[in-house]
Amino acid sequence: MFCSRSITLSPVTFFRDNQSWQQECARETTAWRLGPVRATPNTEVTLSSAMPPKKDSQSIADLRSVHQITAPGPSRDRIAGPLLEEAGYGEHGVAFLSGNYQPLVEETTAILSIPSDFPTTGPDGSAVVSGNAMHVVGELPLEFPNGKFIYVGPNPKFSRDHYKVWGRGPRQRDIGFSNGWHHWFEGDGMIYALDFESMKPSEAQISDRGTPGEVQDNCTSSFTKETGAFYVKHRRGRNRRLRYRNRYVRTNSWHDELRSGSRLFRPLMNTSGLSFLPHAIANLFLGGNFLKDSANTALTFFAGRLLTLQDTMPPWEIDTITLETRGPCDFGGTLPFYVPFTAHPKVAPDSGDLVFFGFNPVYPPHCTVGTINSSGTVGQMSSLWHNALQGATFMHDFCVTKKYTVLFEGSMNIRPLRMFRGEHPLQYDEDQVARFGLLKRGGVENSEKVVWCDCSTAEMVYHFINAWEDEDTGEIVIVGVREDGFFLGALAANGTREWISNKLKVGRSVPRIHEWRINPTRQAVTSERWLFDLPVEVPRINDAYTGIKNRFTYAGKIHTGSLTSDAQLKFDALVKFDLQNGESEIYEYGYKRYGMEAQFVPRNKSRAESQANQRMSSPCSSDTDHAVTDMDAVPVEDDGWIVLYVHDESKGSAEGRSECLVLDAKNIQAGPIVRIVLPSRIPYGAHALWCTAKGVDDIDSFVHDSVRMTSESLANCSTSDLINESTTLSTSALNNSKATPRLFTFAEEQTDSLLGTVRTGVLRAGAGLFVNGWRPCISPDVHTEYSLIRAFGFRFMEARALGKVREDQAKSTEYLSRTDDPLPTLTLYELEGCGACRRVREAICMLDVACVMRPCPLGATRNRLSAAMAQLGVTHDSHGSVHVEDAQLPYLEDSRTGAKLTGADSIITYLYSEYLDGAVPSPLVRPGLMASICAQVAVNARGTADGYPSTTSSYRRGPAGAFYSRPSHQPTKPLQLWAYEASPFCSVVREALSQLELPYVLQPCARGSPRRTQLMHRSGGKFQVPYLEDANTGTAMFESAEIIKYLRTEYSVP
Ligand SMILES: [Fe+2]
Repeated sequence: MFCSRSITLSPVTFFRDNQSWQQECARETTAWRLGPVRATPNTEVTLSSAMPPKKDSQSIADLRSVHQITAPGPSRDRIAGPLLEEAGYGEHGVAFLSGNYQPLVEETTAILSIPSDFPTTGPDGSAVVSGNAMHVVGELPLEFPNGKFIYVGPNPKFSRDHYKVWGRGPRQRDIGFSNGWHHWFEGDGMIYALDFESMKPSEAQISDRGTPGEVQDNCTSSFTKETGAFYVKHRRGRNRRLRYRNRYVRTNSWHDELRSGSRLFRPLMNTSGLSFLPHAIANLFLGGNFLKDSANTALTFFAGRLLTLQDTMPPWEIDTITLETRGPCDFGGTLPFYVPFTAHPKVAPDSGDLVFFGFNPVYPPHCTVGTINSSGTVGQMSSLWHNALQGATFMHDFCVTKKYTVLFEGSMNIRPLRMFRGEHPLQYDEDQVARFGLLKRGGVENSEKVVWCDCSTAEMVYHFINAWEDEDTGEIVIVGVREDGFFLGALAANGTREWISNKLKVGRSVPRIHEWRINPTRQAVTSERWLFDLPVEVPRINDAYTGIKNRFTYAGKIHTGSLTSDAQLKFDALVKFDLQNGESEIYEYGYKRYGMEAQFVPRNKSRAESQANQRMSSPCSSDTDHAVTDMDAVPVEDDGWIVLYVHDESKGSAEGRSECLVLDAKNIQAGPIVRIVLPSRIPYGAHALWCTAKGVDDIDSFVHDSVRMTSESLANCSTSDLINESTTLSTSALNNSKATPRLFTFAEEQTDSLLGTVRTGVLRAGAGLFVNGWRPCISPDVHTEYSLIRAFGFRFMEARALGKVREDQAKSTEYLSRTDDPLPTLTLYELEGCGACRRVREAICMLDVACVMRPCPLGATRNRLSAAMAQLGVTHDSHGSVHVEDAQLPYLEDSRTGAKLTGADSIITYLYSEYLDGAVPSPLVRPGLMASICAQVAVNARGTADGYPSTTSSYRRGPAGAFYSRPSHQPTKPLQLWAYEASPFCSVVREALSQLELPYVLQPCARGSPRRTQLMHRSGGKFQVPYLEDANTGTAMFESAEIIKYLRTEYSVP
């Protein structure tokens, strides 16, 4: 499954000529010896407090313009955007794969510390804190609470070629069922989070730019009065730390597609009618769902769980700190697997319960309503069978009041029979009467108790703002953004721009704020009216007012020019609406700056925040007495801030960086009081969440002693970047004396993993256990050499038959005592879980040749892109057209001969030819189809005991070590692992290295290897494998469990 095409690229055919080959080798050699660590966020960099500031004055000067931030972006997109006219992507596929809708392939972690005693040296006491990864302009108010600002959106994980019209992308099979294009709704979910944390006083002394004194000097030199377009008063406040992360939501669908190496799910949103059904069936068989489970739409935080949501799918739980995907959430088994979960659940104002509905577009009941109590358990659920016969009516959002759950069925429905007329089953149906469904909470909820109140025809609402019961009239007041088919038209496959233009001309279908009033006694809608004319979407309020009368809402103003020019949905301003007075104020983001959904952040210690915490952040918040039921007790509604992400397209839509803006909610037209320039861009997505969680304060425990910034990136990864600075593997600083082997001991949690590797080893008949020509023999004892058994003055030795290259190396006089080994000439790019790669590793052990190992786990980009570039002969400066999928594994480079080969058979034949003097490969690894099949069967027997956290047994897991688990710091100096392929203890360590995508030097020590004696000399007369040396930290250790723990602690990024 993981085998790539077996293509031999011999030295003769791979290089255009010998001269270029020599140049290539020279470049490699120089880079390994002299190449500095690239100090950009595209490679892993550790920023210590002693690191000098880099280009700070320029960056700060650039930051002075409000509308044009020119700070150098760390992650320029290498993928050139296809033209809109390129029909291979479909019009709207292009719209949602271009510009800042382009997929982001990086997972980034960045931290910036801001000491409270940051000097006030600028004019008017203004402050700028700048780091290589993030810049902050302005200062957060003292009352601004700790919390987490999160955003989620679709972000396709493969290169854009995979999202062409179905049948034309890489590895897609055109089965002849017409077209289907990528659609925004079907991109893999990615979450972006900015943590606002307090620091302890001792930690505040650490700055990623140096000491506070150094900051002062730079700021002083940079502040000039003539530049001051954007300043705020600096007030001495809390020690702050900002932490940014973005991570994929690793759903089952995400894993399935990654395992297949290509787009697996056929598009459904942008298909013709005839192709819809076969595509849906294919998805069901191949991926287990009709539609890809992407968790890409919205977020909620309830009962201590951070959930990312998608209509019609189960919620996925995310680690609140690391953003790792924990697995699907069924609320302790209380949410049945067949009940979908809305993207917009609501906290009820009376009980504090989370009210949800589940919209099932395929089969009845198409709607299920339920509640989840504050302990995280699903309570009553009610299935609504009212539309079982005519088909589903699309539902995306709903409302709650103190007494009612208010459902909404608009004029968009799903009629399966349309497929047989060549139409898409989901249509905006202007003849359908929209209606609200009132369901009184607190009793037995069932469909018979839903009271339906008709509106008029041709109405659609994606997002409601709020609803409440008017105490004077007894009416239920509902406020939302009515859009009458706008989104379906805007996101359709073809003719989008014309559709939008026509609607705009006649003033219809533009999303605007609308009010409905329902008399529950008469069970009828008594009035409807438009409240404002501005086209807006993604409205938000102070969440403390959910279900009770509120006055203010904040929404993004739609940039209609973007819709008609490039068919992209963008927001060019933030609007604050006063629902009481009919007034509005606006903050325009500026030239080519577009914002995303905003969130209201209540002032710290306010009642509103207290309520939010009670409801949302603590599993212990079951005490519903704290729920706000008294308007008089609620503080001023807009007493707080607005946070949102904005992207700057002024330097190219996909080249700029994104920012987090903080605005005073009482005065948004004054513009942001703080701007935080992020280390990467955030593609335009869907919904956001502010989470004022007590748990966020505990994040302090995850902070390391130094400030680190790491970015996993497709960019700037060359084969020379990851391990450099030295051509030798110095071990002089290693603390070997503390390394103590304990024979055959293992941690309890390793049991499954070790048994799995034993299964593979048995099925491989011990391949990689012995070096070539191994046989036992007897000679007089010499205690300075490794022996299998010692007895009666003799030692039972292990003879070998290695090639001349290896024997000459082993017999050299300084070999045994050397601590500075030369870097191996072999480099292998390989993948755990791949039988072909396993055979190559076995051959390396049997030949006893050291090798630089570059793991290429699924989902990682660094080593894979390096392999792809090397295979295609693409230079670092022109690798924009190279994708990670271009890499064929295993891939071997030998700088001694210049050989570059792919395919296990070719590599093994080459290794035996070069390192065993042309001998025929062992039957255990000999090339051939049968050997390939047997190896894959053995590898599959290893099982799926992977490192992924799992909360339910339904969470699929991949082959052990085959998946990239989390971003990691790359070692400056290479790690060295002394191991051999057949050892189960060594295998689990190797898998851990793979999961972190950590390169290392493999020092094979199969039975009979002269390296066993060498290891004895290095480790004070001890021998045991695995044995890890880390020259970066001076660490040397034996035990596999300890090694794995060390690697994850030292190199993974939380
Ligand atoms: Fe939504």
